[in-house]
This record gives sequence, structure tokens and C-alpha cells, in this order.
Amino acid sequence: MNKKPVIFAHRGASGTHPENTMVAFEAAAEKGADGIELDVQMTRDGEIVIIHDETVKRTTNGRGAIARMTMAEVSELDAGSWFSPVFAGEKIPTLDEFFTWAAGNHLQINIELKTNKVPYHGIEKQVLDLIEAYNMRGRVIISSFNFDSIKRVIELDPYIAVAGLIWKIRRDALARAKDLGLTALHTQASYAFSNYGKEAVDSGMLLRLYTINHPKEWQRIKNSGIPVEALITDFPERFS
Ligand code: G3P
Ligand code: CA
Repeated sequence: MNKKPVIFAHRGASGTHPENTMVAFEAAAEKGADGIELDVQMTRDGEIVIIHDETVKRTTNGRGAIARMTMAEVSELDAGSWFSPVFAGEKIPTLDEFFTWAAGNHLQINIELKTNKVPYHGIEKQVLDLIEAYNMRGRVIISSFNFDSIKRVIELDPYIAVAGLIWKIRRDALARAKDLGLTALHTQASYAFSNYGKEAVDSGMLLRLYTINHPKEWQRIKNSGIPVEALITDFPERFS
């Protein structure tokens, strides 16, 4: 039996607002989300910034790789106009800025370390230091497709909440997660429905599913009886 899942707004309320911007995070809170999922990368000068892609091309008016840009360069960019002129002038937020805002609410926070394409040396410690500085430990789950990155987080802070991220159906995911002592996996619905998903649940793994945007999809999952702790959605208003 499924109780009401925790609702995480994927990149903020990204169905209606430009993803991973402060206006998307604020909208997620207004729409009744329980938490926010966001993606972090690191600038050339070591600032943790909230953006999904390794380059700024898709979601800003600029070009270039975050790893090769300074924070000063990143802060010049418009991260809202690509979505709609209504959001012109929105910036790529820093994790610092996000935490300053989050200090005024009680939302859960899922920080995805985007280290699966660019290794961003030292990003795990930088993120953990910020979590500590803003006293956010109890509210944060750190996830990543890069299990080596998760391993580094655990080595630095064995008690922070972490989760392994899985794309589609990975046969070896559960074994890798168990090796690291993980207790939660963030997966797509296809994994949850697979025998691997069943095995994960049977062995006590918590499942959080992305990206569930249609209540009918959630109904199907509920009907299946697969226990799901949380949904990560672009449209938190549809589930709140
Ligand atoms: O954390 C779940 C989901 O956000 C992972 O995929 O590409 O949307 O970051 P992506
Ligand atoms: Ca993500």
C-alpha cells in the first residue's frame, strides 16, 4: 500500500517556470511541494551553481562550459528568457543563494551532484561545507548518477542522507548501492516496475521516482502496490 508520497519539484516548478532558477524554486513552494530537487555544477573559480547542463547554451542566452567560466561570467547570463520573456533577467543561482532563501522555509532539498560528465574536483566537499554553513544537514539528500561521487560524500560525511541515481534499468544498480551502504535509490518508473526494482524494494531500499508528471502514471504505480517514498515532478501542483 502506498501512502501519499513526498513531492519534490524537479529543478523547481520547471513545468511552468525556467528550471533551476529562484523563481522556479519560489513557485514550487507556493504550489505546495514538500521539497525541491536541483542540479549543481562548479565554475572555474570554484563556485557551486545550480544548473542542469554542463554548458549554459540550452538554458541561458550565453555559450560555454560552466567548468571553464568564472562566477562573474555566469552571473551575467539570463536564465529565464529561453523559457519565456516573462522571466527575462532570471539568473543562474548559486547554492549559497538558494540556501539563504531556503533558510526561510522548511522544504526538503535534493541536491544532485552533476559529476557524471565533468568530474569537478572537490565539488563534494564544497557542497558539504555549504550544507554545514547553512545548517541544512537534516533537510538535504545528496544524489548522483556518479556512484564514485556518492562514495566521496559518504567518506567525508558518513551520516548525511545520500541516494543513488539510476537511468532506466540497471542490472547492477542494487549491488552497487548495497556496496556503498545506500538505503535509497532515485529511479524511473520502468526500474520500479522491473524485477530489479522489486528486488531493491524487497531488500529494504527506498524508491523515489523521477520524473512523474501525470497523475495517471502515479495512479498506475499506486495500483501496482510498489512502495514509493517520493515523486520528483515538474508539476508539483498536480500532486499536492
Ligand atoms: O534527480 C532526478 C532527475 O533529476 C535526474 O535526471 O537529468 O533530470 O537531472 P535529470
Ligand atoms: Ca536532476
